[in-house]
Amino acid sequence: MTNKGKSLLFLPFCFAFVVHLTDGDLSYAIPEEMKRGSIIGNAAKDLGLEVGRLSARKARIDSEENHQRYCEIDLKTGNVLVGGRIDREELCTEKASCVLKLELVLESPLELHRVSLLINDINDNSPAFPKDRMELEISELADKGARYRVNEAHDVDSGQNGVQQYILEKNDHFILSVRADSDGLKNVELVLDKELDREEKWDLSLVLVAVDGGSPQRSGTAIIHVIILDANDNAPVFTEVAYEASLPENSPLGTVVVKVSAADADEGVNGEVSYDFSRISERGKRAFSLDSKTGEIKVAGPVDFEQDSKYEMRISAKDGYGLSSDSKVVIHVTDVNDNPPLIFLKSRHNPIPENLPIGTEVGIINVQDRDSENNRQVRCSIQQNVPFKLVPSIKNYYSLVTTSPLDRELVSDYNITITATDEGSPPLSSSKSVQLSVADVNDNPPVFEEQSYNAYVTENNKPGSTLCSVSALDPDWRQNGTVIYSLLPGEVNGAPVSSYLSVNGDTGLIHAVRSLDYEQFRSFKVHVMARDNGSPPLSSNVTVSVFITDVNDNSPQILYPAPEGHSFMTELVPKAAHGGSLVSKVIAVDADSGQNAWLSYHIVKSTDPGLFTIDLHSGEIRTQRDISESDNMKQNLIVAVKDNGQPSLSATCSMYLLISDNLAEVPELKDMSYDDTNSKLTSYLIIALVSVSTFFLTFIIVILGVRFCHRRKPRLLFDGAVAIPSAYLPPNYAEVDGTGTLRSTYNYDAYLTTGSRTSDFKFVRSYNDNTLPADQTLKKSPTDFTEVFGNFVESPEGYLSE
Ligand SMILES: *[C@@H]1O[C@H](CO)[C@@H](O)[C@H](O)[C@H]1NC(C)=O
Ligand SMILES: *[C@@H]1O[C@H](CO)[C@@H](O)[C@H](O)[C@H]1NC(C)=O
Ligand SMILES: *[C@@H]1O[C@H](CO)[C@@H](O)[C@H](O)[C@H]1NC(C)=O
Repeated sequence: MTNKGKSLLFLPFCFAFVVHLTDGDLSYAIPEEMKRGSIIGNAAKDLGLEVGRLSARKARIDSEENHQRYCEIDLKTGNVLVGGRIDREELCTEKASCVLKLELVLESPLELHRVSLLINDINDNSPAFPKDRMELEISELADKGARYRVNEAHDVDSGQNGVQQYILEKNDHFILSVRADSDGLKNVELVLDKELDREEKWDLSLVLVAVDGGSPQRSGTAIIHVIILDANDNAPVFTEVAYEASLPENSPLGTVVVKVSAADADEGVNGEVSYDFSRISERGKRAFSLDSKTGEIKVAGPVDFEQDSKYEMRISAKDGYGLSSDSKVVIHVTDVNDNPPLIFLKSRHNPIPENLPIGTEVGIINVQDRDSENNRQVRCSIQQNVPFKLVPSIKNYYSLVTTSPLDRELVSDYNITITATDEGSPPLSSSKSVQLSVADVNDNPPVFEEQSYNAYVTENNKPGSTLCSVSALDPDWRQNGTVIYSLLPGEVNGAPVSSYLSVNGDTGLIHAVRSLDYEQFRSFKVHVMARDNGSPPLSSNVTVSVFITDVNDNSPQILYPAPEGHSFMTELVPKAAHGGSLVSKVIAVDADSGQNAWLSYHIVKSTDPGLFTIDLHSGEIRTQRDISESDNMKQNLIVAVKDNGQPSLSATCSMYLLISDNLAEVPELKDMSYDDTNSKLTSYLIIALVSVSTFFLTFIIVILGVRFCHRRKPRLLFDGAVAIPSAYLPPNYAEVDGTGTLRSTYNYDAYLTTGSRTSDFKFVRSYNDNTLPADQTLKKSPTDFTEVFGNFVESPEGYLSE
């Protein structure tokens, strides 16, 4: 408001005081026009709030009606401060009491306190007359005591600061009369105190001063110019004392609101009445116009119910002589539903973590409608198919809360549309879109694509070769979904798994660290873990079974007769042996499995090809026909043992057979023995035979009573012994018949090949009748036999690896 040059009283800020404090509401009274930042009061203290929590609870002051900032709250101290200009005259125009309604909003939980600010007037405005200069035409015949109305002065300040007094400068003819009328308005009149005489003076000027009651006082001045006429006249008279009209807001320009009319009894120019606003507010002046001839009041500018619902004005009617009267016009503005509801997002948590409990408040919505009554009743709704709902909170506030668990892996962003509709007719609505993002929480462990993995690897693989790959998926975000693979510690055959396999942490590829041996183990299991990089990390594990497939990498091993170069054994064949008699047996094993270990026996060379046959599968050597006298006493067979692998591997051995009933009947052999320069042959033979027998007994005991040892390297315990040392057998040898014990045929073979004439040991006969009791076994050094068997002693190596 204008301060017309006069001094403005500076009011100390401590004027503010708590008026009352009920039900969590605050009231303060302050003078208008306080400086920005002045302290109004301490809301924290007055409401008993914790000052330290104000910031966390997002304390703020909102105005209820419009969005101008009048006040702020200092979050550090809880003080309510002046946040902008507060001009009582602008806020409340002429209302006697001016109360500014504010809200103190606190969140979590939402709390609302009404703050009423009573704005006290200060004398910042001077009284003012509608016009600085007024004309008054008065007949010289006017009687003493005649009254002449002049327009009153107006002061926008209220109460004591309004116009209190009028002073008329001293003059010869007029005195001042001020009377309050029924409306409380003042009627200011000049009263003729001494008759006028036009011939003496035809005009005069009077000075009228209006003063207010403020301190210091302010005043306004008008000059009244009185012109003295020489004829008499009647003042116009309004048809109504007061006019009232109502007008819907937003009426178009030019709409006639009301027509005032005043009649004048005079004829001619004296009866011509013209109308004028004698008192009207600034806003009224902008909204309405008055036709000075017809008295029609028309809409001249925007009429807004939300700004002013009622206009009051005074109109004067004046005739040609300047005689006037006035009347009051009240225009009521009626509400039209012209304001859609407004939705304000007062607070929002964004992003929201996906593990929020159901019913958590994620935002606060405020809805306002500036219309009145039904037009401002608002219903709020939210679109379907989102896991959120609006819960009415205090007054026109709503909480946005979750209705079901959120899962970022399914929906990571929400566009929530909130619609507000008022109850006017037609209703108006508006909507607002609220965006919410869901933040990741490490709630998904990595999941392997398969329940378990199988890897097949051919033995003798290259170290570093890839066996298989595992893969796990984790739908979480960034590091929460980054999968790292590792081997879980474990043992394979007593060695850590890491010495066999490694897994690439990033790709999940599993590599062999060393070459694998089927003969060592056929399969093993390892556990691979997939872990994400979240904190805390989540993991899962999976079993990887590694199956090693066989390769024909082991040749058959002939256990009996002992390999070339180590021993030299001879079987005795009785002369009386019939065709089909069992004479001996080749025993061989193969460390491979399946086809690779399926052995077949062949005689590749023999002294007398028609005399002996070998069973293809069992290796049993039998006579093909009866032995006759003509048969060579010394028979030599070279037997090849082949496996069925691709390519197949084989081994050969020599078998020496002596057709004789008695070792003593072999003169060549005897001679040969005695030809030897070594005269101690007999004792050697005895020692050898005893050793063989003893050793073979040991072997039988080992075979029958002890589990096979799998780890020792094949090794001959005794050079040239007629024995199958248990340690010689490959680890899986026992699986030949699947029971872990040696097959009975081997048992029988062992017996068959162990006899010695000089042996003290006798064995239970557990074999078939057709078995010949060929218990003659001779052991000699290979060189000793060279002469006996001639060139048969040549190494059978030529038959190897056919
Ligand atoms: C959400 O709304 C915004 C703007 O209204 C738009 O750009 C965005 O694509 C919307 N998102 C979804 C998921 O609908
Ligand atoms: C991963 O999850 C944790 C909670 O488990 C969360 O604090 C973190 O922000 C998430 N990381 C990312 C990148 O989303
Ligand atoms: C591997 O997973 C099984 C079940 O899936 C669980 O019982 C076991 O504890 C896990 N082992 C490790 C080392 O994580």
